[in-house]
Amino acid sequence: MAAPTPVGTAKLEIDGVVHELPVVIGSQGERAIDISRLRAETGYITLDDGYGNTGSCVSDITYIDGENGILRYRGIAIEDLAEKRSSFVETAWLLMFGKLPNEEERTRFAALLSDNAALHHDMNKHFDAFPANGHPMAIMSSMINAMGTFHRPRIVDDETFLLAAARLLSRVRSIAAASYKASIGEPLIYPRPDLSYVRNLLHMMFSVPYNEFEPSHEASRALNLFFVLHADHEQNCSTSTVRMVASSKANLYAACSAGVSALWGPLHGGANMEVIQMLQRIQADGTSIPDIINQVKDKKSGVKLMGFGHRVYRNFDPRAKILKKAADDLLESMHVNDPLLPLAKELEEAALADDYFVERKLYPNVDFYSGIILRALGIPLDMFTVMFAIGRTPGWIANWKEVNDNPEQRIYRPRQIYTGAPDQLWVPRSQR
Ligand code: CMC
Repeated sequence: MAAPTPVGTAKLEIDGVVHELPVVIGSQGERAIDISRLRAETGYITLDDGYGNTGSCVSDITYIDGENGILRYRGIAIEDLAEKRSSFVETAWLLMFGKLPNEEERTRFAALLSDNAALHHDMNKHFDAFPANGHPMAIMSSMINAMGTFHRPRIVDDETFLLAAARLLSRVRSIAAASYKASIGEPLIYPRPDLSYVRNLLHMMFSVPYNEFEPSHEASRALNLFFVLHADHEQNCSTSTVRMVASSKANLYAACSAGVSALWGPLHGGANMEVIQMLQRIQADGTSIPDIINQVKDKKSGVKLMGFGHRVYRNFDPRAKILKKAADDLLESMHVNDPLLPLAKELEEAALADDYFVERKLYPNVDFYSGIILRALGIPLDMFTVMFAIGRTPGWIANWKEVNDNPEQRIYRPRQIYTGAPDQLWVPRSQR
């Protein structure tokens, strides 16, 4: 990871004293004022609640240009990965190692994923201990962390990293399927080494001991695309969480377990579930589209248009564009008539024609159409964010690796501006 190139200085005047701060530039022309010496030199810190203006790290993995709707993994546009039908497994390799795998690397990685798909037998017993209606994201986060008690990942070089990464990537899928099976009272289904990553997941979720599930090619292709488009997204909330945990030198599983927890929230990955619930509510209540739009615009209502808006994309989210078309194609190929699809399109059209959304540059994000695809595949609503988590795992792993590979890495430790009570004395209980 090359340090960003210094291209000049910015001047900051505080109390009549001028301080010069280096200006650095990324490989795509992104500029930043490097304030890493600011406090040492001036006693000041910068304040940026929510980190909207903070570059928290230098990274080689993923590039986003929010103004122009560009998303690239290691320089490759997601449109290219989608059109060429890149497999999720090779996309994961791309993110982790910086280039697409050659035939030998791909075959070896696929074999490692197959060999490491089954959970430790004792881990399977944990599923019986969770309540049947426990949310699968809570189960996933717990089980990924629990993996560290069965296989302590000692990562010292690329080989040991590859094994730990393959174990995690393969087993998030087994954990997801097992939590689903436990929730519906069906026996766990073991992975099959002859199946691809995506088909194996569908097999473990939908086969039963007396009946093998055979997904259509269109179905596995759509889920592969879903995973590829979710595979990384630079410094989003869950990935920043993973990097934060990694910076303390916590192990890969502990860091990714924290990532799952961060992803669960409705403002992040949990939005894919919320979008469908919102559409279902609109459909059930018969609320008109203009009424929904008005509710969303009324800040007092506390209602947001789920699946809309993004911190970085200010023009369009390229993932949403691809997924909208994929939803159309999948439903047509499966001869599925989902009334939520035309409803979503109507809502999108109304929002994009409304000044509130235009002025704030709010567009459909990745979660707006992805749920329609998952529904068509028979994935239950509770499992939507789990699917996002499986897809995002390569990005988390790649970011964990980047933090760990950096010999200069310091622990992530932001500062704050304290606004609480000043110095106070402890008061004895009788006088409070
Ligand atoms: N519906 C209504 N108003 C919105 C929405 C929305 N979905 N999103 C943003 N706004 C308004 C917001 O209230 C603010 O208005 P004002 O300027 O009057 O105060 C303005 O737009 C700017 O928004 P913001 O609060 O600065 O946006 P943010 O960058 O802090 O938050 C977001 C980004 C994605 C959390 C937010 O847009 C949101 O809550 N969207 C709905 C949830 C969602 O779809 N999340 C998935 C995000 S994409 C995938 C992922 O990251 O997992």
